[in-house]
Amino acid sequence: MGIGLVEMELESKLDEALMESFPASDAPASLSEIEPDDLSARKVAVIIGSLRRGAYSRMAANALIAMAPQGLHLEIVEILDLTLFNQDLEDDPPVAWTVFRDRVREFDAVIFMAPEYNRSMPAPLKNAVDIGSRPPGQNLWDGVPAGVVSTSPGALGGISSNNHLRQTLTNVNMFVLPQPNVSIGRVDTLFDENGNLTNEGTKKYLASFLDSFAKWIEKFL
Ligand code: FNR
Repeated sequence: MGIGLVEMELESKLDEALMESFPASDAPASLSEIEPDDLSARKVAVIIGSLRRGAYSRMAANALIAMAPQGLHLEIVEILDLTLFNQDLEDDPPVAWTVFRDRVREFDAVIFMAPEYNRSMPAPLKNAVDIGSRPPGQNLWDGVPAGVVSTSPGALGGISSNNHLRQTLTNVNMFVLPQPNVSIGRVDTLFDENGNLTNEGTKKYLASFLDSFAKWIEKFL
């Protein structure tokens, strides 16, 4: 398929993406609030780069949470309520920033779910990374192992977002799993109407990512 056709398909998906965003208090609670069965499991924060209801990146996050292997416990850390980073507010930060920072510190590692906006990561995702990186000397990402999963209804799976995000995470001194470098294309075809992952190939792909990620994070903890 030519790139022009791919772009036209992406355009037709924009309307879906423009559904209104929703507050963290409204976020689906189910999978984020499950307590780890195994108290020695590594705790992994899952940060979703889309604010919209019905985000495919959230569906993919829930699929990862559901298939987490023994020894890995995944939980969503919401960024829905984060206001834009403003350096003027650093001395007296908004409560939502502090809540987010304290929450991320509870985890051993982070997986970032990265949709693609204009060949880069969505602004809320970059904003969350910026908030976590400040103030100077309190960069909470420092030395933390990370994984990136990009998703898109387009054929390229958000790989430009993935690459830009990796560049930023390297700058805040996160250790990002190099391979598998997961970018999931045609994400709008992989889930049923209840948001359950139905594509067997994608299940295997995500399972191999989680296995590699589980081994990767042990190198740094
Ligand atoms: C997009 N989309 C998009 N997709 C892509 O593969 N490459 C791109 O550069 C863009 N650019 C883009 C810009 C803007 C402003 C929007 C709103 C959307 C389409 C995008 O991948 C699609 O809407 C996804 O469904 C968004 O991810 P969630 O919300 O489903 O996780």
